[in-house]
Amino acid sequence: MATEQIFIPTKENQSRAWISSMEEYQKMYDASVKDPEKFWDEQAKEFLYWKKPWDTTLEWDFTKPYVSWFKGGLTNASYNCLDRHTQGLHRNKAAIIWESDGGRTKMYTYQSLLTKVCRFANVLKDHGVKKGDVVAIFMPMVPEVVTAMLACARIGAIHTIIFSGFSSQALRDRIQDSNAKCLITVDAGKRGGKVIPLKVMADEAMLETPTIETCFVVTHSRATINMQEGRDFYYHEETRRRDISNECEPEWVEADHPLFILYTSGSTGKPKGVVHSTGGYLLGCAITTKYVFDLHDEDIYFCSADVGWITGHSYIVYGPLCIGGTSLMFEGIPTYPNAGRFWEICEKHAVNQFYTAPTAIRSLMKNGPDEPSKYNLSNLRILGSVGEPINPEAWLWYFHEVGQGRCSVVDTWWQTESGAHMISNLPGCTPMKPGSATLPFFGVQPIILTEEKKEAAVDEDGRLCIKFPWPSMLRRMWGEDSDKRMMDNYFGIFPGYYFSGDGAALDKDGYYWLKGRVDDVINVSGHRMSTAEVEAALNSHAAVAESAVVGYPHEIKGEGIYGYVVLNEGFEPSDDLTQMIVGHVRKDIGPIASPDYIHFVPDLPKTRSGKIMRRIVRKIAAGKIDKEGFGDLSTLVDPDIVDVIIETRPNA
Ligand code: WTA
Repeated sequence: MATEQIFIPTKENQSRAWISSMEEYQKMYDASVKDPEKFWDEQAKEFLYWKKPWDTTLEWDFTKPYVSWFKGGLTNASYNCLDRHTQGLHRNKAAIIWESDGGRTKMYTYQSLLTKVCRFANVLKDHGVKKGDVVAIFMPMVPEVVTAMLACARIGAIHTIIFSGFSSQALRDRIQDSNAKCLITVDAGKRGGKVIPLKVMADEAMLETPTIETCFVVTHSRATINMQEGRDFYYHEETRRRDISNECEPEWVEADHPLFILYTSGSTGKPKGVVHSTGGYLLGCAITTKYVFDLHDEDIYFCSADVGWITGHSYIVYGPLCIGGTSLMFEGIPTYPNAGRFWEICEKHAVNQFYTAPTAIRSLMKNGPDEPSKYNLSNLRILGSVGEPINPEAWLWYFHEVGQGRCSVVDTWWQTESGAHMISNLPGCTPMKPGSATLPFFGVQPIILTEEKKEAAVDEDGRLCIKFPWPSMLRRMWGEDSDKRMMDNYFGIFPGYYFSGDGAALDKDGYYWLKGRVDDVINVSGHRMSTAEVEAALNSHAAVAESAVVGYPHEIKGEGIYGYVVLNEGFEPSDDLTQMIVGHVRKDIGPIASPDYIHFVPDLPKTRSGKIMRRIVRKIAAGKIDKEGFGDLSTLVDPDIVDVIIETRPNA
């Protein structure tokens, strides 16, 4: 629901901002799209250190697709994030402030982080990890995860982080797809007072990942674990070895050298390995961190995401560190020990910028509406939102209760594939409309297309596409068939354009309103998941003959997971069976994929060609059971099944 309200950034936010007027934004935006090469050329020089300058700024062809930024240039992400800040006044500045689940704090200066990174980079090299090798990281929010990422970057190894909430099977699949040579994990993680046995899970995964030669284990919880001789090494023992040097010359890599692979969900059951570059990606992270969060030298910036997702990569690690900022990382969850935890951290560390997801805002709004008022949040200037469209109610609560009407709320639309913010307001100038991500960032050229591939009219719903390359965009998919998969997923649907998978509309003021995914991807608590992936997990249970998974509107999570299940002969619906099937999905993918509902049905509504009529099951899951709105059902093999499904709907 759109609201008509418009909020203008306060004078204070405006006066200190890097971009403090719409004229300035417009001027810079126009320059960035009129002559993108010139614009990005200048930005790449301003934001990054290059060992060798590039020969060509941009080469591209979306019909292949092929994109290369800063070809011929040599750089290194770890050098940009660390070394250059240790050469001046930032040397003693906090790079990372770590807040533990239980409330302890650790701080790492740029110099101390650099030394840690160099030592671990040397350990990796000593164990045979080289430029181009893939290193899997299965770690929770501990400071060593940052060291691990930057140590990989330092030697040109490609990291792939697997979210620590995934199951051992999901970990195994991602290691197998990436052919990782090395795995970095911890003995056990802690979240919300619970201990998560990550090494045990890693051991299970490694039974079927022959490519892993070495596994490093960070001790974090003093959990009892098994260490396999010759394969498993304690991180602390290796990094403290006397023969390990404090210095490690960075490996100067090509701008397009892969910095990392991050697996994300698409329309198919198999997660896709999105490959990000070093130079372009880092530039995108750095420039957006500076302007969208209006990050200044003295600021303390807190992003509550997990490093297992793109937000953690770009906006806990690479963006803030690349520009010499102070990034606060938090191990725990927003509701433990109570719903004031985030605000307590904001007060304790005098946080200036806070970045979280709408699902967290909704949950805190429900579980602790008065909590923000119990803390001193006067340092907050900017509040960020990411992961899904933010509903105006949540936006207004965030703005009034957390931001006390004083903070700008930046609604940042972007994706794993985009690497960095694409559409967002700037906190010192853009008038805010709750629920709209507002205007494109510099260099981003969005277009909304209708299914007929025409540009949508004002207020007309369409598909959000991007016309022109941007530096932090994905370069390819990991593994074979990259070109084909790039075409199938992103570039072949609206030829000549990058297709985001999102629905959107543009209003009369040129503001973008995101409408959620239009493909079979669902967004559960800001976690991106493919319905096909959950279906594959359901179908692999012995009792399940067939299934259909859809998202449905959920008050807190944004979308919940609704699974229709057809049982095999000999199985009867029961609560026990529901539990078992849900448990099976948790084991297969992880707790984030647990269906909220299992609805046992005798059959699914299928067309004569055998396709499940998804629009029908989606409507029923959302409680829209008025058949008037179902459209044409005549192509169904058995139209009566629709009534049976409606009648047996849980809580119907
Ligand atoms: C959704 C997360 C509306 C969108 C950075 C996108 C959003 C998907 C917003 C990417 C926003 C993210 N407003 N929708 N501000 N931010 N999305 O890859 O559907 O985990 O396609 O990246 O999240 O999710 P991903």
